[in-house]
Amino acid sequence: MPILEKTELFVRSIGEATDVVEKEMYTFADKGIAMRPEATASVLRAFIEHGLHVRQPVQRLYTIGPMFRHERPQKGRLRQFHQLDAEIIGAAEPRVDAELIAMGQMLLDELGLNVSLELNSLGCPVCRPPFKERLIAFLEQRAEALCDDCKRRARTNPLRVLDCKTPSCRAVVREAPSLLEVLCADCDRHFAEVQTALAELHIPFRINRFMVRGLDYYTRTTFEFLTADLGAQAAVGAGGRYDGLIEQLGGPPLSGIGFAMGLERLALLMEQRDAGAIPAKAMDVFVAALGGATLAPAGQLVHALRRQGARAAIDYSGRGLKAQLKQADRVRARFTLIVGEDEWARGEAILRDMRTQAQQPFGLHGSPEEQALRLLDAVRPAATPCPAG
Ligand code: HAM
Repeated sequence: MPILEKTELFVRSIGEATDVVEKEMYTFADKGIAMRPEATASVLRAFIEHGLHVRQPVQRLYTIGPMFRHERPQKGRLRQFHQLDAEIIGAAEPRVDAELIAMGQMLLDELGLNVSLELNSLGCPVCRPPFKERLIAFLEQRAEALCDDCKRRARTNPLRVLDCKTPSCRAVVREAPSLLEVLCADCDRHFAEVQTALAELHIPFRINRFMVRGLDYYTRTTFEFLTADLGAQAAVGAGGRYDGLIEQLGGPPLSGIGFAMGLERLALLMEQRDAGAIPAKAMDVFVAALGGATLAPAGQLVHALRRQGARAAIDYSGRGLKAQLKQADRVRARFTLIVGEDEWARGEAILRDMRTQAQQPFGLHGSPEEQALRLLDAVRPAATPCPAG
C-alpha cells in the first residue's frame, strides 16, 4: 500500500470528528493527499479498486509498514511508527471475530508477552444512534464537569467522552448509560457468540464498556490488547469490526474485521521482558578464509551453500584463525570450514565440528556447487534442519 492516499479516504473512513483526522494527520492541504495514519482505509481502498472479492469471497489480508500521526512523541508513541495490520474481509460470523483475535493473541504468546485482552461492542446503525442521543442528553446535563475537549466532543463525537482519561470526565462517565444494555437483538447475539467462541478457544478477556476506539468506522466487536508496562495503560494492538465501511467507500456490501499491532510497542515490551533475546538462527557452516587467495573460492562456496538453502556465513576481513573461530561461535555455527592458503593450494580444507571440536579433512575439488553438496552431506545430519525442507 502506498504511504500517500487521498485525504478524503481517511476523512470518510476514520471520521471527520476523530483526533486522528482532526489533529494527527499529516496532510498536504493543496494536494488533497495525506500520509496514512493507519492501514485499514488503504487496504479497503485497494480491495475495492482491484475487486478482490471477485476472486475469493473471504479474504484474509495483512500488511506491514510505516504509519504517520502528529502526536506528542513519548515512550511508545511516535510520529512515524510501524503497524502489522491484519484484516478478514467478507465474513460476518462471530467465530471469525474470535479467530482473528486468537491470531493476535497467538502472536503475543509466541513473543512471550503478557498482555490483557479487552472486548466491547459498539453496536450498529440500528442501536447506536438512539444510544448516542441518550448519551448526549446525559452529558449535556453534566457539561460543567467535563474537560474542555469533552465539552466539545459531547456534541461532535459523544462516544469519545467515554474513554477520556481526565479524572473529572471519568467520574461523570462511570454513571453514564451503557451501550451494551441497549444493543439490538442482532448485535447482542453477535457479541454473546464472540464471547462463547473466545471461551472455546481458551482466550481470556475482560469486557470494557468504556472502550470506544479512536476511529469512527467500527461496528459491533472492538478489542484492545493492553499492557501496563509502557507507562500508562497502553494498547500494543487493537481493532474491531467495520461492517458497512466497504460499501460506504463505494465497494460491495461486505463486512470486515481487523486489527493492527504497533511494532515499536511490541519491541519495547520484548526488550523489557528480555523475551527480546529471540536467538538468531544458528548457522550451518561458517567458512573461515585465511589469506587473500582463498577469499574468492571461499566466497563462491558460501554462495553455492546458500543456493542450496543452507545457512552459511563468511568473514572477508582476512583476520586470523582464532578471531574467525570466535566469530563462528558468535553466529552459533554448527561447523566451520577452515580454508588455509597452503591447504587450498593442495585442494584441501579442514572441517571443524564446533560442538565436539573434532576436525576432519575436507577435499575442495570440483565446482563450488559440487563442493557445497558434499559439504552439506558431511554436515547435514548434525546441522539444524532447514525449515523449508
Ligand atoms: P489504532 O488503535 O489506531 O488502530 O492503532 C493500532 C496500534 O498501532 C495501537 O494499538 C498501537 O500499538 C499502534 N500505534 C498507534 N499509534 C501509534 C503511535 N503514535 N506510536 C506508536 N504506535 C502506535 C488502527 O490503526 C486500526 N487501523 C486497527 C484496525 C485494523 N482496525 C481494523 N483493522
